[in-house]
Amino acid sequence: MKIGILNSGGDCPGLNAVIHGVVGAADQLGWEVIGFRDGFEGLLPPGNFTVLRPKDTIGILKMGGTILGSTNKGHFAAKVGKGDIAEVPNEIVARAKQTMDDLGVGALVIVGGDGSLTTGLQLYREGWPVIGVPKTIDNDLSATAFTFGFDSAVSTVVDALDRLHTTGESHKRVMVLEVMGRHAGWIALWGGIAGGANVVLIPEMPFSLEKVRDFINHRDAQGYHSTLVVVAEGARMPDGDLVTLDSNEGGEFRLGGIGDRVAAKLQELTGKETRACTLGHLQRGGAPTALDRILGMRFGVMAVKLAEAGSFGRMVSYQSYHVDSVPIEDAVNQLRLVEPQSELVLAAKAVGICLGD
Ligand code: F6P
Repeated sequence: MKIGILNSGGDCPGLNAVIHGVVGAADQLGWEVIGFRDGFEGLLPPGNFTVLRPKDTIGILKMGGTILGSTNKGHFAAKVGKGDIAEVPNEIVARAKQTMDDLGVGALVIVGGDGSLTTGLQLYREGWPVIGVPKTIDNDLSATAFTFGFDSAVSTVVDALDRLHTTGESHKRVMVLEVMGRHAGWIALWGGIAGGANVVLIPEMPFSLEKVRDFINHRDAQGYHSTLVVVAEGARMPDGDLVTLDSNEGGEFRLGGIGDRVAAKLQELTGKETRACTLGHLQRGGAPTALDRILGMRFGVMAVKLAEAGSFGRMVSYQSYHVDSVPIEDAVNQLRLVEPQSELVLAAKAVGICLGD
């Protein structure tokens, strides 16, 4: 038996842990692992791949990025423009399948986010032996309570806030930190709460900058002259504007810039010196936390178990402290968003965090 694995979409800490899990579990079954390079692109003839043996994966558990490479563009991109779904053309699918057949790959583990798993679902429906592993630092896939990479991203946000806190205090400034989170505010909310932010602005909750101004002025009156604001890149300005860097042809819009916009407006409204900082890809890079290493490894092992059972068309999922699986079709195109009335949001408000609503 040969089992293939590829990483598709944006990278995230813990991808190598998944590879480590797949290679270890496959080796115990006497299976060979084929690692396709640069996502689905590695499937195109003549095939860009490497055979992965346990000795090839020594030490990768703790490494960020992915030894296989990844791409969120190319011939297999499922999400275009404003999230519209595109089918992979038949001719491309047929060429990729030829590589699978020539190599004798009997199961393909696709480690990817919503877009890549949408492609995986199309391939499964066309008869491919696909197993999905969810991957996104945004942690916004509905069918799994957790994805690896999220905890590492949150740790980076917390570290950044700890640093912004001291410089903000020294200068009595408002410090605005823009973090990732395309559709969901999980990174902003978790990072903001853990990092002691005073204001958290997320895509799910429309905010008023006048309310944030009043909050900052109130803090000032109480003697707290510095305020930490976290804003998710996918939050909309009060006029409904999504702040983008460009319209990424053939892919999704690149988000970015809302931190600067919020900072400029808050400086104007409060008269306080305000600085913005964008954390960007620092959140995606670097070594995974212990939690992400373990979760990634468990996801990899479960993917091999599913292959062994012939349970194709399923995605590994984490629910209630257990790693299990769900049909891929139940997992894609359904985001898990922050619920404005959830216990988490209410807890944040209870400790005095302003969400701008
Ligand atoms: O979806 C994960 C994510 O990190 C988003 O939070 C962010 O908008 C996007 O990827 C960035 O993608 P890229 O690396 O292509 O700029």
